[in-house]
Amino acid sequence: MGGYSPFIFTDNDEFIVIDQRFLPQIKKVKLENLNDTCMAIKDMIVRGAPLIGIVAAFGYYLAIKNAKDLDELNQASLTAYTNLLATRPTAVNLKWAVESQKKLIEQNAFLPVEKIIKKVRANAFGIFEDQKKADYEMAKNALVLFDKKMRILTHCNTGSFATGGIGTALGIIKYAAQQNLVEEVYVDETRPYFQGSRITAFELSKENINYKIVTDSACGILMQKKLIDCIIVGADRIAKNGDVANKVGTYCLAQLAKLHNVKFFVAAPESTIDRSLNNLSDLDIEIRDSSEILNFNGVNLAPDGAKALYFAFDVTPNYLIDSIITEKGIYRPDFEL
Ligand code: MRU
Repeated sequence: MGGYSPFIFTDNDEFIVIDQRFLPQIKKVKLENLNDTCMAIKDMIVRGAPLIGIVAAFGYYLAIKNAKDLDELNQASLTAYTNLLATRPTAVNLKWAVESQKKLIEQNAFLPVEKIIKKVRANAFGIFEDQKKADYEMAKNALVLFDKKMRILTHCNTGSFATGGIGTALGIIKYAAQQNLVEEVYVDETRPYFQGSRITAFELSKENINYKIVTDSACGILMQKKLIDCIIVGADRIAKNGDVANKVGTYCLAQLAKLHNVKFFVAAPESTIDRSLNNLSDLDIEIRDSSEILNFNGVNLAPDGAKALYFAFDVTPNYLIDSIITEKGIYRPDFEL
């Protein structure tokens, strides 16, 4: 189940990622250093909250691996930390991963530099392995939410291409499908990057799971016509009170779900919970370049000179969410994460 790796990191430190902008076509890109890694995250060659954390952790290692002494190591570590954090602001997994690398270096400063570098490399692999395990645990925990064969709507891509494992929301769907608990999946195409139609549909087709791609704006009529039993989405950051930041459009889905009495579930690893924030009222929501809305693959989708506003994420308030599923279990309202 879900055996497509969005990257490889070899014994010789070759770091090769699938360029997700071209999926379902497979194109690979080699990341040689910190700059390449930052560019890959910023330009969304790789994307998905857990995956950008994992890629950042490997990029951090590339940035420090040639340090000759502690001064060089500390300097390279600071540059890696600052540059990686500046790539994309909303998903907390990135911050969590680079902080883990930075702390590891600080806490082991008494060791020879080569040993610290080895630990940083191992930590990147550890973060990757933990995510794969968390995906499975989430999928198992979520099974209690399936009381019949479900018709599920999902948004964006939360599968192997977003985590390196089976995925979060999509991992749950894949696992439930294996137990014959999935009737059909409605896949939001997720404009403008089309994570749904290009990536989620690709993963579902590989798993032979019934799916239909729908336009993002069809969610209302699908719920009105009672075609959806539940919605399962991922998250980029979750506050202590259960507010969830996720791909733009999630908030509209949650509002409509409440109106139509459709269950609304969020799946994410514990590393997506930002316990430093009580709520997400003041969250820094990434605004991406409007050209990503106005053009697709070099084709103009609007007249010359058209302006666009591209919020990449939105915030769904806790009161619209029925359950938050993590590897530890299921949180229900009132959320106290
Ligand atoms: O802009 P993206 O593609 O990085 O956004 C991804 C999402 O919003 C996902 O739903 C979220 O990261 C969860 S991925 C398991």
